[in-house]
Amino acid sequence: MPPTATDRFRTLAAALGVEVAVSEFPEGTRTAADAAAAVGCHVDAIVKSLVFMADDRPVLALTSGGNRVDESRLAEAVGATVVRKASADEARAATGYAIGGTPPFAHTGEGVDHVLIDPALLAHAQVWAAAGTPSSVFPISPSRLASAAGARTADVTTSVQTSTATGHARSGRMSVTVLMIRRDDADAPVDVAVETLEDSALPDGAVTIDVTHSSINYKDALVLAGRPGLVREHPHVPGIDLAGTVRACDDAAFAPGDEVLVTGCWLGERHWGGMTTRARVPSAWVVARPSGMDAHRAMALGTAGFTAQLSVDALVHGGVRPGDGPVLVTGATGGVGSIAVMLLARAGHEVEAATGSSGDPEVETLLTALGAARTVTREDVSGAAGRALAAARWAGVIDVAGGATLAGALAQTRPGGVVAACGLADDTTLATTVMPFIIRGVTLTGIDSVLHPVELRPAVWERLHGAVDADLLARVTTTIALAEVPARATQLLERGVRGRTVIDTHA
Ligand SMILES: NC(=O)c1ccc[n+]([C@@H]2O[C@H](COP(=O)([O-])OP(=O)(O)OC[C@H]3O[C@@H](n4cnc5c(N)ncnc54)[C@H](OP(=O)(O)O)[C@@H]3O)[C@@H](O)[C@H]2O)c1
Repeated sequence: MPPTATDRFRTLAAALGVEVAVSEFPEGTRTAADAAAAVGCHVDAIVKSLVFMADDRPVLALTSGGNRVDESRLAEAVGATVVRKASADEARAATGYAIGGTPPFAHTGEGVDHVLIDPALLAHAQVWAAAGTPSSVFPISPSRLASAAGARTADVTTSVQTSTATGHARSGRMSVTVLMIRRDDADAPVDVAVETLEDSALPDGAVTIDVTHSSINYKDALVLAGRPGLVREHPHVPGIDLAGTVRACDDAAFAPGDEVLVTGCWLGERHWGGMTTRARVPSAWVVARPSGMDAHRAMALGTAGFTAQLSVDALVHGGVRPGDGPVLVTGATGGVGSIAVMLLARAGHEVEAATGSSGDPEVETLLTALGAARTVTREDVSGAAGRALAAARWAGVIDVAGGATLAGALAQTRPGGVVAACGLADDTTLATTVMPFIIRGVTLTGIDSVLHPVELRPAVWERLHGAVDADLLARVTTTIALAEVPARATQLLERGVRGRTVIDTHA
């Protein structure tokens, strides 16, 4: 039997170093909706490999299933004057495959001049693409997909506009209040101010959310200070967290009135964020709030709470149980740290809270109220940093600091203990030896809240909602207005903030 297009794709992909596990669906995966139904994923996690002719040269746009390529934006992205869809013959000549089965890489045609990947795809842990025929697909991580296809990230899409049972037209003349960061050029200082825009100025996204609350995290403070490496384009609306109510949804994922939240996924970094009264985001980023969690509570937790829960989960997964010995939390008065202390104590752990304010009666009272058995000084942790091993103290560690703090914590972790590293408040470096790992079997595990798989997020939020004490959370939470954000961010970078800061975007 001659090789099928899928066989050909599989062989060429393997030659590129990508082993693909192809699934066949005889009922067909020609459209993104068909493919999503077949594999049981969200349509936004389906890769459409679309060929366009840009000034009569072929270009491949790897596009999220929920989005549609805007030809004028594509023209701008590749520096072309005229862009149109390729005909079936042109597409086959360029890629070697028929429309409907075109894989994103391993092509056999004459080639394309540019490959662009939709940033919406990069928010997923795994996406699915055609494997050579209209009835075969394969899963792949978006980063692997981008490197195999030689794609560069470019947002050239608009969300699918057709009305659905839950959707409606998104354009309008409603005004939106945002905290806007403007910057004339990369070296200029940033200018931050509350502004009013028409909602047509908001970026594309399948879900329009009326935002009532956001929060300030350490990363937001860096963005507001104009620190390099986080925001690529200005003007920019910051805010890595938001909570509110769905106003409109262009697909069936959410209905108007749904109470939702968004954290991470590049919100407030590569996409306008939560410090606004309205936002538009891809539906894959949106999480339904657990029943009973209001928007203020959701933002009192925010990325900090989500990260604290992921860190606690990592300790549980590594086998750290109440009764195994003290568990250390560093940066204990900060956002992640204070919530981590609370979660661990409520789960029955003996918590040691490391803080730069150890001995301050107010801080001691606060940390005791959160459930800490005792406080330790930062130096008590970092003091062991130069040593391969020191006295074994902690069965588990949640570290927000990195640097000497993390090195010292590793050297003092008990045999079989687990250290969850989630932050860099001290330093990004880590100077350690292999001794904690090979003599004590210590596990060092990394926590990434930004690209944590979207399908796992609702369960994390449910656990967090069930574990947190609302009164204690309120005790470590301050609420401010949008106009107060710049001053608060400066204070945060100067280490003058304890606990969490919620933004009431309508205050
Ligand atoms: N991995 C992820 O996905 C993720 C998610 C959220 C946050 N983070 C990171 O986690 C860290 C904490 O975030 P956050 O929002 O909780 O920030 P935060 O509210 O500013 O808290 C950080 C705390 O760290 C402590 N600290 C400050 N400087 C320190 C130093 N030089 N050495 C040791 N401890 C120091 C302080 O607590 P004390 O005064 O009590 O010591 C401070 O309150 C940040 O680096 C942030 O970027 C990572």
